[in-house]
Amino acid sequence: MAKRHLITCALPYANGPVHIGHLAGCFLPSDIYNRYLRMQGKEVLFICGTDEHGVPITLKAKKENKTPQQVVDENYSVISAGLKNFGIHFDTFSRTTNTLHHETAQAFFKTLYDKGVFIEEVTEQLYDAEANQFLADRYIVGTCPNCSYESAYGDQCESCGRTSSPQELINAKSALTGNTPVLKETKNWYLPLDSIQSEFLDKWVASKKDNWKSNVYGQCNSWLQEGLKPRAMTRDLDWGVNVPVEGADGKVMYVWFDAPIGYITATKEAAGEDWTKWWKDSNTEMTHFLGKDNIVFHTVIFPAMLHAHGAYNLPTNVPANEFLNLEGDKISTSRNHAIWLHEYLTDLPGKTDELRYALTSILPESKDADFTWVDYQARVNNELVAILGNFVNRVIVLTHNYYDGKVPSGTLHSALPDVTGKINDALSNFNQRSGLEAFMEIARNGNKYLQDTEPWKLIKDEANAQTVADCLFTCIQIVKEIGNYAQIFLPVTSDKLLNILNINSYDDAITEGHKINKPVLLFEKIEDELIKVQREKLQKAKEINAKSAASPTEEKTEIPIKPMIQYDDFTKLDIRVATITAAEKIKKADRLLHITLDIGSETREVVSGIAEHYAPEDIIGKQVTYLANLAPRTLKKIESTGMILMEEDTDGKLKFVAPSEATAAGSIVA
Ligand code: MF3
Ligand code: ZN
Repeated sequence: MAKRHLITCALPYANGPVHIGHLAGCFLPSDIYNRYLRMQGKEVLFICGTDEHGVPITLKAKKENKTPQQVVDENYSVISAGLKNFGIHFDTFSRTTNTLHHETAQAFFKTLYDKGVFIEEVTEQLYDAEANQFLADRYIVGTCPNCSYESAYGDQCESCGRTSSPQELINAKSALTGNTPVLKETKNWYLPLDSIQSEFLDKWVASKKDNWKSNVYGQCNSWLQEGLKPRAMTRDLDWGVNVPVEGADGKVMYVWFDAPIGYITATKEAAGEDWTKWWKDSNTEMTHFLGKDNIVFHTVIFPAMLHAHGAYNLPTNVPANEFLNLEGDKISTSRNHAIWLHEYLTDLPGKTDELRYALTSILPESKDADFTWVDYQARVNNELVAILGNFVNRVIVLTHNYYDGKVPSGTLHSALPDVTGKINDALSNFNQRSGLEAFMEIARNGNKYLQDTEPWKLIKDEANAQTVADCLFTCIQIVKEIGNYAQIFLPVTSDKLLNILNINSYDDAITEGHKINKPVLLFEKIEDELIKVQREKLQKAKEINAKSAASPTEEKTEIPIKPMIQYDDFTKLDIRVATITAAEKIKKADRLLHITLDIGSETREVVSGIAEHYAPEDIIGKQVTYLANLAPRTLKKIESTGMILMEEDTDGKLKFVAPSEATAAGSIVA
């Protein structure tokens, strides 16, 4: 019995729109696989949705003064519209805030709970006393122990990619208040990944060694080698799916617990009553598409959950891709170093197939890849325009010139290489780049055949009429073949070709006398100017980002002006100019200097905390401003009377406040 295929694409996180990294990481690969299998006549369900819980969304909402729901609503619209425009059509594009999802995730959790899978544990978690809440890993920032990046999150360093725990961060601070978190007790439910590993995961993963891509198997295996630890599946947070068990008030599910269950929810939404065959029937193959940062969740944690649950299938394959970079730099949402789908659609309207093509050509299937605008331009101009577009156009134009647009009576030239096997082989093994190359071979071969046959020369001699007819008949079949496989890679082009060929489906035969339509432009040459504008756009984003990083105004805590005082309050201060007559270090006090001042009428002794800023020998003779009537204090056994006034610059350096010209010691400041 033919296998049924459930294809999942990692649910994009709804804290922002999606960019070309998402396209290359999982949207395009899953879409290509989906289109390929459907073309094979397979029974397929292709699902996705937005992942709408988790801390980053609450942080974003806070920053933008919105509710988390507003944030995800906005992003859902932008994301789903963008994907639709790129021809990525899911059977359902669900949302994890849907009621059905909350119910589905709760039922899943409850099953594990009832089976006694979870370990309940009271632990001390980081707590922000001022904000009055427990700090999720994402709410904690500090220095990465691995690469020293200073804004690493408690769960992951965005600079080196290392996953860690907040306790490992150096100088951890609450992202809410900037306070150092304290430890407080709380109860959570843990998935015992350690015992699931020894009882099940080790064997299951080993059985995938020959089937999974080596980058996927390798990463997964190294997690197992390190040894899994129990992981908390609940969080003290108020944005997420409520935990449906006693004693869990105010707790929600860990976002990586509920998100993959979103695949089940989406299946229910797409298939209704019939959904179980996609998850419970052993005749269904499940394939998860995702980017490399999601590998552990799909090869270890979700399978562990599914196994513990017991009623569901596990994935057959997890063909994850590596990362796509942009112009030599890591794509970054926060630095706005990205090409956003919704912006591409307005900046380069009508060019979705062009981007699909350029990205599919460089998919990071086994290692990271780099997208550049110049490469994009070259691929469009030298391949889509010069090969595919040019071939189709010549065939259609010649058919109109010679036969008034009617397919001539001819026989198929049989010596043309058949790439069907190559395409099938590549696509069934997730080698989509090779699949695309094989697809382009159809056009390359066609071009060569046309060029070698030269019907434009032959047509001049009546004796060649049948050769010309055979050639164009063959070329029209090749155009159809291109259109047919374009359904997988270039859906807009495929539709255009259907139109030009004047057929309803690529299953229709094109025979003698069939009238074809006039040519339409398939691809336009990309001019240098367009590339320049796009490159400048990225450059500008970089500059803006560098500027805001250089001016620390955002991070620096502005010191507010103190409450209003009256003039009488001010006159209580006795401020005078004084001259430093002696200065020396104080033993065992790195920061303090013992200073002697001439204040005109008398001599004063002051202990001043400026030893890190001034050497004693450098300040003798300097004139300073001195608060003469501050009550004395004893520091390091020296009675310090009054206080030398200092100003602190933005770097924290202390400087004397001095009269602009030399003046008599004891002069009054008022
Ligand atoms: N939202 C995650 C990301 O963007 C992916 C979630 S995939 C799922 O990295 F399995 F959890 F749904
Ligand atoms: Zn790091």
